Amino acid sequence: MSRILTVKNLVTRFYTFDGVVHALNGVSFHLDHGETLAIVGESGSGKSVTMMSLLHLLPMPPARIEEGEAVFEDDDGPIDLLKLSKPERRRVRGGKIGYIFQDALSALNPVMTVGRQVRESIMEHLSLDQKAARERTIQLLEHVGIPGAKSRYGNYPHQFSGGMRQRVMIAVAIACDPKIVIADEPTTALDVTVQAQIIELTKRIQDELGISVIWITHDLGVVAGIADRVLVMYAGSAVEISPVDRLYEHPQHPYTEGLLAALPRVGAKRGKRLASIKGSPPDLQEPPRHCQFAWRCPYNFDRCWASAPPLFEVGEGHYTKCYYDMDQERPR
Ligand SMILES: Nc1ncnc2c1ncn2[C@@H]1O[C@H](COP(=O)(O)OP(=O)(O)OP(=O)(O)O)[C@@H](O)[C@H]1O
Ligand code: SF4
Ligand SMILES: [Mg+2]
Repeated sequence: MSRILTVKNLVTRFYTFDGVVHALNGVSFHLDHGETLAIVGESGSGKSVTMMSLLHLLPMPPARIEEGEAVFEDDDGPIDLLKLSKPERRRVRGGKIGYIFQDALSALNPVMTVGRQVRESIMEHLSLDQKAARERTIQLLEHVGIPGAKSRYGNYPHQFSGGMRQRVMIAVAIACDPKIVIADEPTTALDVTVQAQIIELTKRIQDELGISVIWITHDLGVVAGIADRVLVMYAGSAVEISPVDRLYEHPQHPYTEGLLAALPRVGAKRGKRLASIKGSPPDLQEPPRHCQFAWRCPYNFDRCWASAPPLFEVGEGHYTKCYYDMDQERPR
């Protein structure tokens, strides 16, 4: 499969009055055409900052992208997303890359009708007149499963349920035939049934349109059904990258192992408590020079405290930032 996005050594910091927050410390990953990459990790690990850095959605200041490149490549040729001018950024955002935000209510404009919001996005990126853009909007709303799309065109966001608002966000994200859709925890605010419907809808749309999807979540349980590959983030670093099946069978980072152990399992004994990862992530204002996970890691040994591990290749498409070989149960 060919690459559509290649991110190398992304370093993003926030220069706040209280000090410098080292939010991303050299994140590298890639995305292939048509695949789904899930990004998992606990709150504050840098999942959103990674994506918002690529699309220039961070407030600057306090944010600053210090290093890195992010090459997006489609039929128009390669471009580095981090080096775009302001008009080029607008062309990419919503045009080539769609974004589904976690909280649809705050992402949608409360004083503009839903139909107009989708229509304006279409008119900004595609050369359609108002009538054609309105027709496309209604088709899109039908496509994402809004019942009575024509009559709901003039409704405001607050007149929709949470699940329906998230469907509208999906319509906005796919309105201009993007190559990539980034879904940033699109289902966390929804109940389980609606969550499953939104996941199904995203998969259907991906199959129909052949787009690549980056699905951000803190829930490894959701990942199994949707992702081809998984990137595990911890304290602003990509600590494990793996094809999805391999990750579940052979996690090669103790943090991933901890996340998997914390998942509820069918058939688990009743009353058995779920494992949780003890301790908390490091202070990103003073990141350690040794392995960031060392304080919480049950396998830590001398080398872990002397330097931060590099990314080791441990199988086909499988990488980990860890000095301990979990298969052989000894240092590598
Ligand atoms: N505007 C900001 N100013 C200062 N620090 C920030 C700002 N935005 C994010 N950060 C910090 O950057 C780090 C990464 O945050 P990010 O929002 O990417 O986490 P996340 O993995 O998306 O978490 P969540 O699952 O809670 O959404 C956190 O430590 C956060 O506090
Ligand atoms: S490098 Fe050492 S401390 Fe860090 S995750 Fe691996 S075993 Fe644990
Ligand atoms: Mg986030």
